[in-house]
Amino acid sequence: RAVVTVRRYCCQKSPQKLRVTEALSSQELGANIKIKGWVRSIRSQKELLFLHVNDGSSLQSLQVVASSELNVRGLTYGSAVEISGDLVKSPHKKQNVELQATHIQVVGECNPVDFPFKIKERHGLEYIRQFPHLRCRTNTFSSLLRIRSEATSAIQSFFKENNFVHIHTPVITSNDCEGAGELFQVEPAGREESPDEENTGFFDVPAFLTVSGQLHLEVMAGAFPRVYTFGPTFRAENSQSRRHLAEFYMVEAEISFTQSLEDLMMVMENLFKSATECVLARCPEDVELFHKYVAPGTRESLDVMLKNRFKVITYTEAIDILNCSSQNFAFKTEWGCDLQTEHEKYLVKHCGNMPLFVINYPYDLKPFYARDNEDQPCHTAAAVDLLVPGVGELCGGTLREERLELLRARLAHAGLEDAYQWYLELRKFGSVPHGGFGMGFERYLQCILGVENIKDVIPFPRFSHSCVL
Ligand code: 4AD
Repeated sequence: RAVVTVRRYCCQKSPQKLRVTEALSSQELGANIKIKGWVRSIRSQKELLFLHVNDGSSLQSLQVVASSELNVRGLTYGSAVEISGDLVKSPHKKQNVELQATHIQVVGECNPVDFPFKIKERHGLEYIRQFPHLRCRTNTFSSLLRIRSEATSAIQSFFKENNFVHIHTPVITSNDCEGAGELFQVEPAGREESPDEENTGFFDVPAFLTVSGQLHLEVMAGAFPRVYTFGPTFRAENSQSRRHLAEFYMVEAEISFTQSLEDLMMVMENLFKSATECVLARCPEDVELFHKYVAPGTRESLDVMLKNRFKVITYTEAIDILNCSSQNFAFKTEWGCDLQTEHEKYLVKHCGNMPLFVINYPYDLKPFYARDNEDQPCHTAAAVDLLVPGVGELCGGTLREERLELLRARLAHAGLEDAYQWYLELRKFGSVPHGGFGMGFERYLQCILGVENIKDVIPFPRFSHSCVL
């Protein structure tokens, strides 16, 4: 019996399983194939049913033609299907082939009346944002997710090609790298209700979700000239803005044996350009959807950004530009004030709507690790922010204070000397001048796609008063 079964199995040639993109580019007319996906549109005409099936492999759907005699139960817009049939030449100009179905199986039914997305309608980002569990079924958000995935690989490739070592920095940490107090504390759930345990906490020290992997990268910069990390980062910012999240992804790089901001700016600019060129080349249709329907004009401005060198101005020049403008800014523009989003956007526009590096910020605005330029009385730190159109600040970086005594004095001034003994020790054992930067990955996607709200470029946005799913 066993032998007979095997023989039968071999004789019955099963259809070739293809992804929709593979089917669409196949040259094998007449091939018997099987696809799996979701019905994006359905209509009947005379004795025939016409479906479009998408499986997430690209923006395109495969047209399927079936006899209405197949009479498939539950076949509606939104349902999940497995379809076998023959690949034939399509009479339509837009696609080469279509699938003549011989067998359709509905794997998961979908009630199109309750389904929040309507057939052939282009829903806005704000509307689809209300359905975080379903929005990946729309063309726009599935395009975004493919772009996000490609951008991730493009960034990883950039660092690999430039000899950076990828370091997995921890998500749980005992430091507040930025010193801004925007920390989420970590404790096991229900900890407060167990009075019998000593009140030292799970880790014996206060522990937090990381606000930046920088300090851990600095440890590694003592053994590797170039390191980077790319992971989730957390800030308890009580902000409902269009460019802040409580959980976002940050790309951070640290470079040893450097004493110049130019080295950092070079890496930032090359990273931006190389990743963007890669994304444009690898998912042109997905990107085009955004440039055509979400933010017309973005492609043209992106092309200009990619062709030209990014400009550089000092913080002091930036303040002068703001003060000479006729704008009524809501926030002060005195020397010593932090640049706000409105200022950053104005500066970018003023400089030709091109990415712009602002360097040498007031020393007191920057965290303890920033290198002192020692340029009294206008006291600045070797810090750089990259500002980009539509977003404002995309990257923030500094040269790090590698001089032991200066660093000790600054930590002591902030009352942090004891907590950062290990950090001071890095400066005692083979310390080198080094620097690095962080780039907000969601802000990067906002910039290249022209998306206004940061919540529309991350699969599951977390922000104050919102942690759905
Ligand atoms: O300027 P930031 O705070 O720099 C640092 O954290 C440094 N320790 C990085 C380093 O030198 N290794 O943050 C870097 C970037 C910002 O320019 C911004 O793009 C992004 O991270 N960012 C946020 N993105 C979304 N939501 C938030 N709440 C963000 N906070 C910062």
